[in-house]
Amino acid sequence: MFEQFKPVPTDPILGLMAEFKADTNPNKVDLSVGVYKDEHGDTPVMKAVKKAEKLRLENEKSKAYLGLAGNTEYNDLMADLIFGDIEPLKQGRIKTAQTPGGTGSLRVAAEFIKRANTDATIWVTGPTWANHFSIFHAAGLETKEFPYFDFETMGLKFDEMVATLKTVPAGDVVLFHACCHNPSGLDLNIEQWQVVADLAKNQGFTVLLDSAYQGFGSGLDEDAAGLRLLASQLDELLVCASCSKNFGLYRDRVGAFSVMGKDADSASVAYTNALSVIRAIYSMPPAHGADVVARILGNKELKAEWIAELDEKRARINGLRTFIVEKFKEHNVPGDFGFIAEQNGMFSFLGIDKTAIQRLKDEYSIYIVGSSRINVAGVNQDNADYLAKALAEVLK
Ligand code: LMR
Repeated sequence: MFEQFKPVPTDPILGLMAEFKADTNPNKVDLSVGVYKDEHGDTPVMKAVKKAEKLRLENEKSKAYLGLAGNTEYNDLMADLIFGDIEPLKQGRIKTAQTPGGTGSLRVAAEFIKRANTDATIWVTGPTWANHFSIFHAAGLETKEFPYFDFETMGLKFDEMVATLKTVPAGDVVLFHACCHNPSGLDLNIEQWQVVADLAKNQGFTVLLDSAYQGFGSGLDEDAAGLRLLASQLDELLVCASCSKNFGLYRDRVGAFSVMGKDADSASVAYTNALSVIRAIYSMPPAHGADVVARILGNKELKAEWIAELDEKRARINGLRTFIVEKFKEHNVPGDFGFIAEQNGMFSFLGIDKTAIQRLKDEYSIYIVGSSRINVAGVNQDNADYLAKALAEVLK
């Protein structure tokens, strides 16, 4: 049977992570995978997480099954974190299930959409996170890109985006990044979100939001502003959230899938479908990470400590954005990189070609994703000059 297989190329992001690990150059710089790094290049466990884990260890009473939706306390607290104070949540129109990470949530969303409409096309931003394609194709759904990022101006292709979305039929799904667009760092402003809401109402397509970086752009509530606008105005909405970045729980795989229906009954029916999708894929999510998040969000002091740590990460990234632009100027890197300082979250495109990206890796052990996406958090005081000099050299 195995002779039927052809080798699968390595993942464009996780493959680089492995290559970086194996690289013995002491000057190597990892700007690839979306993992927050501190000034020393480390990704330490957050202090609030450590405290919650201690509490968990001391208080866990059973390892019995949790149920398809996972930790229900976590689900409620996550719904509050994501949706805030909006009416549909109070009206019982939003139901949330714990999932294994953001990817697990998207996979559940894909199967859920497939059940609702086998012919649905998933419209994704051009470009988007590479794994979006694999996830929806794995569920047998077709994907199409709509214009989003303009490599000429390093800005938004807003008019083209609107023109394309005006052609999307009812029954299709349009996937937006709730904040901190991965890979471009370019987000919609609130007026542009309103245009999306109006388009969704007029066209009748369903919006799916990938919310993997809440808290990394401007703040926990600020980053959810577009999402909450849509949730307040639309009949239906799907949200896939991740706690990988904002709680630093990457390997513990903690996420959530929320369905919003036009009323509480339709949301409940939709939710039973999400739960039965979950049953068929992995039965139920692992307990640890969600318990930790619930302990943090459910405890005033721990929550405040977590928010302070998250604020610190965001401030560091935002500071780095200006720092990078200055360093590039100082080392005469050809081109204008001022746009990096304007963007949000962990990523920006450098907008450089494949040859330059390859040379950065081969000659300088600087790892960036093939699309020219950099993880801003991978830059620090020690490697910024090295990076800027190398970039100036490969772009000469
Ligand atoms: C990324 O985009 O680098 C992260 O979301 C990690 C991943 O799974 O690709």
